[in-house]
Amino acid sequence: MYKIGIFDSGVGGLTVLKEIKKVIPASNIIYYGDNGNAPYGDRPEKEIRDLCLKIGKFLYEKDVDIIVIACNTGTAASLKAIRENFPIPIIGVIEPGIRAALETTKNKNIGVILTPASAKMNAYKKVFDKIAPKEYSIMERGCKLMCPIVEGNWEVEYGSYITDELIKLYIDGIPSNVDTLILGCTHYPIMIDTISKYFTKNIVNPANETANELMKQLELIEPKDLSIKIPTTEYIVSGDTVKFLEFAQKFIDKDIKEVKKLNLNIN
Ligand code: DGL
Repeated sequence: MYKIGIFDSGVGGLTVLKEIKKVIPASNIIYYGDNGNAPYGDRPEKEIRDLCLKIGKFLYEKDVDIIVIACNTGTAASLKAIRENFPIPIIGVIEPGIRAALETTKNKNIGVILTPASAKMNAYKKVFDKIAPKEYSIMERGCKLMCPIVEGNWEVEYGSYITDELIKLYIDGIPSNVDTLILGCTHYPIMIDTISKYFTKNIVNPANETANELMKQLELIEPKDLSIKIPTTEYIVSGDTVKFLEFAQKFIDKDIKEVKKLNLNIN
């Protein structure tokens, strides 16, 4: 059975995990949520890269067959560095997201909402310019407060009014010719109902294509440990375990029993 390492700055990567579980139900998964250091989206690139490299090392030493960076900000800052440091396949979420959007758009104008750090790194534009045909365009819109809304559970704590107003404000900044919007932060699909109230054209969640990409990559390699026969998912976070557990039970599976705490910056 394959052993898959997945990480994000918090609960956002659970949106990717959910799709992965649909495509590859029989696997051993270690999910690391760095919620003690979230949001990544407000940090400088080097800091994000250093945090991600520590998580990459942790998962690599757990002997995973493959690592999924289930975080756009982390992918932009560290995909290259993690690939250079650890000799196993590493997948990010940005390229799959762009591929899915290129398939979806009809008028070739794509938009992406993402964290301020991703916007500053031109996370999508850089990859887009390499893989998209010339006649396609992409515009990036940094959304400072959207990840904290999800990570801090604002909707539950304060009701939907603030969330609604903020999302409306961010969507209002998307040019009207954009017919396809990529959710360029893995926390955003959790708010897809509200987002789709204000953006009524095509919405792309890169998680689906990322799960397909993972499947393709796994077909090319052999599992390192063939003795494991029972599918498992282990959840580890660097910060609040209780909040994470409640969220994971709601979003992934109500029977999740345990979230472990491990701060890689201390240990
Ligand atoms: N979920 C992450 C992403 O996809 C990071 C959000 C954050 O921590 O700011 O970009």
